[in-house]
Amino acid sequence: MATVSRGDLLELDIEKFADKGKSLARVDGYVIFVEGAVPGDRIKAYVHRTKSNYAEAKLDTLLEPSDLRVEPRCRYADACGGCTWQHVDYEAQLDMKQQSVQEAFEQQSQFDDVAVRPTLGSPKPFFYRNKMGFDFSADRWLTREEIDSGKDFDTDFALGLHVPGNFHKVLDLQECHLHSELSVRLVNGIRDFVKAQGWAPWDIKKQNGFLRHLVLRTGERTGDCMVNLVTYGAPMERVTTFADFLRSDFPEVTTFVHTNHTGKSQNPEGEEHVIFGPGVIYDEIGDYRFEISPSAFFQTNTLQAERLYEVARDFADLDPSDRLYDLYCGAGTISLFMSEYVDEVIGAELVEDAVANARTNAERNGVDNCTFVSGDLKELFTDAFVDTHGRPDVLIVDPPRAGMHKHVVAQIADLAPERFVYVSCNPQTQVRDLERLRDVYRIDAVQPVDMFPHTPHVENVVRLTRATE
Ligand SMILES: C[S@@+](CC[C@H](N)C(=O)[O-])C[C@H]1O[C@@H](n2cnc3c(N)ncnc32)[C@H](O)[C@@H]1O
Repeated sequence: MATVSRGDLLELDIEKFADKGKSLARVDGYVIFVEGAVPGDRIKAYVHRTKSNYAEAKLDTLLEPSDLRVEPRCRYADACGGCTWQHVDYEAQLDMKQQSVQEAFEQQSQFDDVAVRPTLGSPKPFFYRNKMGFDFSADRWLTREEIDSGKDFDTDFALGLHVPGNFHKVLDLQECHLHSELSVRLVNGIRDFVKAQGWAPWDIKKQNGFLRHLVLRTGERTGDCMVNLVTYGAPMERVTTFADFLRSDFPEVTTFVHTNHTGKSQNPEGEEHVIFGPGVIYDEIGDYRFEISPSAFFQTNTLQAERLYEVARDFADLDPSDRLYDLYCGAGTISLFMSEYVDEVIGAELVEDAVANARTNAERNGVDNCTFVSGDLKELFTDAFVDTHGRPDVLIVDPPRAGMHKHVVAQIADLAPERFVYVSCNPQTQVRDLERLRDVYRIDAVQPVDMFPHTPHVENVVRLTRATE
């Protein structure tokens, strides 16, 4: 057994990727998870945590780089938590996502011979996000390059992203390759403007200041753009000054929402006021147009969401006589996308606002065969629900990262519709849920879809068919 201690600087050969974007190396069989390394690298790594069966380490020196490494596009790639994998070749990222889904089935389930398809790459590997949230802070994080430059920086103002593992400090982001080019211009223009006005950023330690968050949403297919400025308090003259600035310097902004957030949470929430424009933006998936309000859930990679839904539709093998259940339906995007291929869709979702959005979306798109119901599925999805809405011929579920409640899984096992498609943003919980259904369903196909390039996150779609009559 290797003796590895906290503080050691180890020379390691990286074997493979592991969970959460880390990589794995071994010292005499003892596992070390390393941040910032790539399979094939020879490195020196600094051990910062040890456990009985593994240790955690950070890349210190790159001795021999792997062939899978590429030059990151962004100057913040090492510091910012947004894209942990920018230094990894995109094809290798896709392979890794396929491998992680394969391992989840092999290690956590007893399904035999599950063949995971190659990951579907994103049509846009960069600039794919339609939403980004930025934080203001009175405590700016300086990158290694900024410190080494010897220049003076204003460290009591930042607008950007929180650095991973640091609750207080924010990286002052002047470049980003995930959201649109307009978004970057907005962040930089807004920073200059509010600093010139002398408005104070939020001080998380003292819990005071004015500027808290900036949330930007864009319509990939429509060009719409929403600015949501979240502040502590709502002095009208400041809000008006800011609106005038947006109108004159950023005519591309189609709506400005101001949110007054006086609570303690670090989320961009509060009392929303529409200052100009409709207070919503629109985007399109397939032939459908969706209204998106400031806090609505909408898939962040619009173009890839369309491909995700196409996979789900093909897997569902829909028939015009089908009654489809779309569980965890959000604002009804999957329901609408499938609606023209089936007789009827029943969508169910926890958040009432999302259900209201779903109904509006159906109406605006002239779709009249979808019914949306709100409630927590663990209580809602009962025999009475099925009596009211009729037995489904086909089921699509798209739960949050935590997966499905065991009552929902049990009800699926009881109902056992012939075709079942499970869309998930967390293959670990997906495999856990499917393992509970192993007596009822067989797996026909598994398709990972890359919704989030340059991050270790993977979306996965599984097609199942009832195994028993
Ligand atoms: C990953 S999103 C999927 C949304 C939608 N299918 C889409 O593609 O836009 C998961 C949805 O599950 C909803 N949700 C979370 N917990 C729930 C629960 N216990 N019961 C019903 N819906 C829930 C969330 O509000 C969210 O809209």
